Amino acid sequence: MMNITIGGKSVTEQKVRAYGFCVPQHSDIEHYLKDAVALCPMIMEVVKARDFTGKQGQILSVPFIKDGSLHDIIIVGVGVSKRASDSSFLEEYRRAIGQLVRHALSMHVKSLALHVVGGTMLAEQIAIIAQMAAYHFDDFITDKKQTDTPLADIVLCGEMDDNDKERIAYLIKRGSIIARAVNKARHWVDSPPTLLTPTVLADKAREIAENNNLAITVFDEQEIIKMGMGGLAAVSRGSDIDCQLIIMEYKTAHKDAPTVAFVGKGITFDSGGLSLKPARSMETMKEDMSGAAAVIAAMEAIALLKPDINVIGIAPSSENLPSGKATKPGDIVRFYNGKTAEIKNTDAEGRLILADALSYAVKNYKLDAIMDLATLTGACAYALGPYYAGLMSEHDEFVKQVEESAQRSGDYVWRLPLTNDYKQAIKSTVADICNIGNESIKAGAVTAAAFLQNFVDEVPWVHLDIAGTAFDVPNISYYRPGATGYGVRLIIDLATHWSK
Ligand code: BES
Ligand code: ZN
Ligand code: ZN
Repeated sequence: MMNITIGGKSVTEQKVRAYGFCVPQHSDIEHYLKDAVALCPMIMEVVKARDFTGKQGQILSVPFIKDGSLHDIIIVGVGVSKRASDSSFLEEYRRAIGQLVRHALSMHVKSLALHVVGGTMLAEQIAIIAQMAAYHFDDFITDKKQTDTPLADIVLCGEMDDNDKERIAYLIKRGSIIARAVNKARHWVDSPPTLLTPTVLADKAREIAENNNLAITVFDEQEIIKMGMGGLAAVSRGSDIDCQLIIMEYKTAHKDAPTVAFVGKGITFDSGGLSLKPARSMETMKEDMSGAAAVIAAMEAIALLKPDINVIGIAPSSENLPSGKATKPGDIVRFYNGKTAEIKNTDAEGRLILADALSYAVKNYKLDAIMDLATLTGACAYALGPYYAGLMSEHDEFVKQVEESAQRSGDYVWRLPLTNDYKQAIKSTVADICNIGNESIKAGAVTAAAFLQNFVDEVPWVHLDIAGTAFDVPNISYYRPGATGYGVRLIIDLATHWSK
C-alpha cells in the first residue's frame, strides 16, 4: 500500500530519501527547479551539461549528501507544452509520473517528495499513476528481493492554501480508490487461468459486493441453461467448470436517477474451443476476461465514490475449451432474447456470451445506456494497435460522453464505423445470424459489433473492443508486461461524470 500525503510549500522541508520534479519542455526550467537548486546548488549545471530540455522520456537522477545521508533529485521531462491540448498534456504528465515512480522503485527509494505545479487537478492523476506504476504481479516470484522494494510514501508539495489542501486530500483519496480498482483488475487478469476460473471470479465479485453493500446475483450453469441463455451455455459445454452470470447493482439514494449498465466479457481462458487456436495465439488467452475484471473492479470503486446514478455491472464468465462435449462448428444456439445463431467458429465465443448478457440487461432493467467491454477480436488489435480501444456505436450522444471520459481518464477510444452495410456480413442460411462475418466484408471488429447489435434493443449502446489495449501494451511507463486494467478508469469516470 502506498501512502500519499500533502506536505508544505516546498519539498526542501521534507525528510525523504528522494525529491521528484516534472519539467515541461519549452518551460522556464530554472523556475521549475527552484527547490532542487535549494537542495543541491550545482543542479542547474548538471541539467545544462546533460542537455536536459524537458523532452518526454528524459530523466536525470542526481545524488547528493544532506546532513550526512544520501539523497537523490529525480527530474523527468513532461514533453511538449506549446500547442498541446489539455488531454495530451495530461497523458504526457501521467507518463512522466510513471517514469519517475519506476525510477524511484528501481533505486529502492521508499519515500519521495514530489514538487507539484499547475493546480490541484493533477493530484488525482498522481495518486492513480503512482500506484499503477508500482503494480507488479509477483505472487509466484520466489525470491522477492529481485522484485521492487515498495515505495511506501509520496508527499505532494507546492503552492496551496487551505482550500486547495482540502480539495487535494479528496482527490488523493479518489485517485487511490481508482488505482486500487485498476490494480485489482490487473491482478485477476495476470493470475494463471487455472486459478482464476469463472467460479473464482464470481467469488471475487461476491466479496466486493458484501464488503461494499452492493446487491449481487450469480447464476450458475444449471440456471443459465434453464433461463434459455444458449450462447453462454454453448461456450461452457467443453469445460468442466460451471459458467457464471455475475450481476452487481449499485443504487444511488437520488430519486429518478438514470441507470447505466456495464457488461464485461469474462472468458477466463480462450483456447478457441474445437476451432482451436494455434499455440502462440493461445499463450496470453488468460487475458480474455479483462472486460469482466474491469467491470467488477470498477463496481467496487463506484460503491465507494457513490455517484448520483444507478450502475449495473454484468459479467458473463466461462472457459472456452475443446472436449467430447464441446460445441461444434455447425451447431445452432438460441439466446435469452429468442434469436438464434449458427456457430461456424467456436473461437468467436465472446459475442455468444455477450449476446445473452446484453439481452438479460436490456430485458430486466430500465436502462438509459449500456456499454460493453470485450477482448473480442484480433482484427481490432490489428486495426488500432495497443493504444486505442475500438468504439462502435450508433448513438452519437452516448459516444460523445464516452469519448470525453476516455480523454480525461487515459483509457483512449477510437471510433470505427457501424453502419447498415456491415449487418449483411453476419447473415446465415440456417439461423437468424451467424457468429462469424462473411469474408468478403473483412472488417472483423465491426462485424462482431454488428452481431452484438441484435441484443441491445433500442437502448443507447456503446461497444468497446479492448483486445489490443488489455494486455502487454508497450512503451507506456505506468504499465508493465501483462494486464493494463484498461476500462476501469473509463467506467469510473463515466459513472462519476454522468450527464443527461
Ligand atoms: N479472445 C479472442 C480475441 C483476442 C485476440 C483477444 C487477441 C485478445 C487478443 C476472441 O475470442 C477470438 O478468438 N476472436 C476471433 C474471432 C474470429 C474467429 C471471427 C479472432 O479474432 O480471430
Ligand atoms: Zn475466441
Ligand atoms: Zn475470446
